[in-house]
Amino acid sequence: MHIRVFDTPELAGAAAAKILFSVFDQKPDANLGVATGSTPEPLYAQLREAHAGGKFTLANSKAFALDEYVGIPEDHYERYRNVLRRELVGEDKTGLKDENLFTPNGLISDSHAAAAAHDQAIKDAGGVDLQILGIGSNGHIGFNEPGGWLVPRTHVEPLSAQTIRDNARFFDGDISKVPTTCISQGLGTIMEAGVLLLLAFGENKAEAVAQLAEGPISAKWPATIVQMHPEVYVLTDTAAGSKLELTEMYEERWKLAFGE
Ligand code: PGA
Repeated sequence: MHIRVFDTPELAGAAAAKILFSVFDQKPDANLGVATGSTPEPLYAQLREAHAGGKFTLANSKAFALDEYVGIPEDHYERYRNVLRRELVGEDKTGLKDENLFTPNGLISDSHAAAAAHDQAIKDAGGVDLQILGIGSNGHIGFNEPGGWLVPRTHVEPLSAQTIRDNARFFDGDISKVPTTCISQGLGTIMEAGVLLLLAFGENKAEAVAQLAEGPISAKWPATIVQMHPEVYVLTDTAAGSKLELTEMYEERWKLAFGE
């Protein structure tokens, strides 16, 4: 895996955009896996800027959300379909068409069927070429919470108490307002993406990043499964990279691969 620690989230976002653009240079209609939360914002800002400058478009692509809350009202500001629309959809954003944004349907009563349908939509599109990922402070990716399995497909998942606390900031700081169930791409689904591009910012991610890169592969830290993926980029800021022990090695490997 390639790991690089940057001084700021903005620098990491710019480097992440470069990696993403190189995938789209090879395949202009590449399918994108899209994360929500605070972490991808610097990257999405880069994509919007490149689109405004006529250098990049998602007009020919499909985008697949990592996850969605179950039972969140259709017009709720934090519903991930609405978050991703604000970040990416439309000519004034990245050119992504609304009908090409796929999110698990958290509104129908049969969440398991909605999960299976999301997995099938990814398969029908020929898979995700590049998957953008954040990481939870507890080491989840998507909403694959600790203590599960390392292989599932898209499925219904209970949010852990830690994730509910972490996400309360999006719900007026009130943990009772955070949905308790979600539909998440499974680790097995995520691992099939061609490239994984994981971003992590802030001190509260430092332990999860250290486990992801240097811990034993374990369902206790679900993100550790990405050690088994052939093309992974982990870009952090100084705080999130502060518990890594092999930083010099990562720098050498990065220089060898990218010459900078
Ligand atoms: P965050 O969430 O970007 O809001 O920190 C990341 C995650 O939970 O995967």
